Amino acid sequence: MHVAIIMDGNGRWAAARGWPRLAGHRAGGEAVRRSVEAAGALDVDVLTLYAFSSDNWRRPAEETSGLLRLFEQYLRSEPAKCLEKGVRINVIGRRDRLGAPLVSAIESAERITAAARGLWLRVAVDYSSRDAILSAAERARGLAPLTRERFGALLAQASHSQGSAPEVDLLIRTGGEQRLSDFLLWECAYAELFFLDKMWPDFEAADLEACLKDFRSRSRRFGALPVAAA
Ligand code: FPP
Repeated sequence: MHVAIIMDGNGRWAAARGWPRLAGHRAGGEAVRRSVEAAGALDVDVLTLYAFSSDNWRRPAEETSGLLRLFEQYLRSEPAKCLEKGVRINVIGRRDRLGAPLVSAIESAERITAAARGLWLRVAVDYSSRDAILSAAERARGLAPLTRERFGALLAQASHSQGSAPEVDLLIRTGGEQRLSDFLLWECAYAELFFLDKMWPDFEAADLEACLKDFRSRSRRFGALPVAAA
């Protein structure tokens, strides 16, 4: 079971309280902690969180540096607890534009939790699905026959994913917008989509549970006929 979440709405959540945007991102960090814990308890195998898109560099430097500091704090403070709960941390996306302290925090979090065998937590930082697909296509040059599985493995390599993740089963986006914003475009071919009006800092374990319940009631056909008709 692979759940992916576009965590949107931190800025509006903060603005509604008259607070700076970074206060929304900090509250978003708490929602990340709740969601990781809930996902583990709800038998999710892979959780991919969209934390920072490559297009987010277009935001003011104050916000991007604050966000990157927040990721670093998270990656420094969470690994021991994650390991204890069986959560394996993996940061996907580009690393060449991140500062050395953040890259070192990523590598250390991945090393510390490498042996965890429960939830595989993938956090997307400086991530663009289109760039990852392009980079995988470059690596695929001259490789024949190119299967979906093989391309999936190249895509994983291109984005620092520790192996190919299964296709996304359930994609959730908070914050009321209904778009994919360059997130996991290849992996979401048959994902069930959930768009919630709630802002990300308000996201609770019960919301994840409700999405999973609804997901289980949907009929997934992958282009075939429903079982009864077939
Ligand atoms: C989108 O909301 C959210 C982001 C660009 C950042 C997501 C970051 C976090 C949830 C912080 C903590 C993450 C980790 C992994 C510790 P927005 O700012 O675009 O909201 P808006 O649409 O209301 O402006």
